[in-house]
Amino acid sequence: MKFFIDTANLDDIREAQELGVLDGVTTNPSLMAKEGITGKDNIMAHYKAICDLVEGDVSAEVIGTTFDEMVREGEELADLDDNIVVKIPMIKDGVKALKYFSEKGIRTNCTLIFSAGQALLAAKAGASYVSPFVGRLDDISTDGVALIEQIVNIYTNYGFTTEVLAASIRHPMHIIQCAEVGADVMTGPLSAIMALLNHPLTDSGLAKFLADHKKAGAK
Ligand code: E4P
Repeated sequence: MKFFIDTANLDDIREAQELGVLDGVTTNPSLMAKEGITGKDNIMAHYKAICDLVEGDVSAEVIGTTFDEMVREGEELADLDDNIVVKIPMIKDGVKALKYFSEKGIRTNCTLIFSAGQALLAAKAGASYVSPFVGRLDDISTDGVALIEQIVNIYTNYGFTTEVLAASIRHPMHIIQCAEVGADVMTGPLSAIMALLNHPLTDSGLAKFLADHKKAGAK
């Protein structure tokens, strides 16, 4: 399973990168706005800064919602760095843009996926990744992990090469459950990745080992 971090915060990206388990980054317009990144030049420079930090795919989302706008923005984003993956929303013109980019050899991540039908359409259009939003489905009492499993099964049935990128991950159990059902990738905040580290028995076990070592040394 690949681990992506879902943020535009350079410190968080650096920290995950230093842990040695990071395979890429996903961003979205809300995450960019949260970091105060506005204006085309700043946005492009920030994507470039992320690409320079990380060895792996960096999803950069288009803002336009027409085919022409998405194609223009996506081409500019793809020109920035080889690791850029153009993030396209699951709307009608988005599906057309996915097909266009796939024929041009530009990699894409189809975002805002909330149903198996949408995921099937994105795969047919040649998306490199689909991003079903696990947490946002859970928020409305719908099983987000079940959708991941359904999409993994459909893609396996037909040999689609589109990777299932479990997005809107909120906590470590989401990561584990998505791994169990075969998600290719997960993207979540630094807190969810770091929370995988924790177990009270690890902490108490280590404290005991160190205390025993100290005691033995004192004799
Ligand atoms: C997907 O790539 C999105 O950036 C993201 O995972 C959405 O997460 P949220 O529901 O926590 O905003």
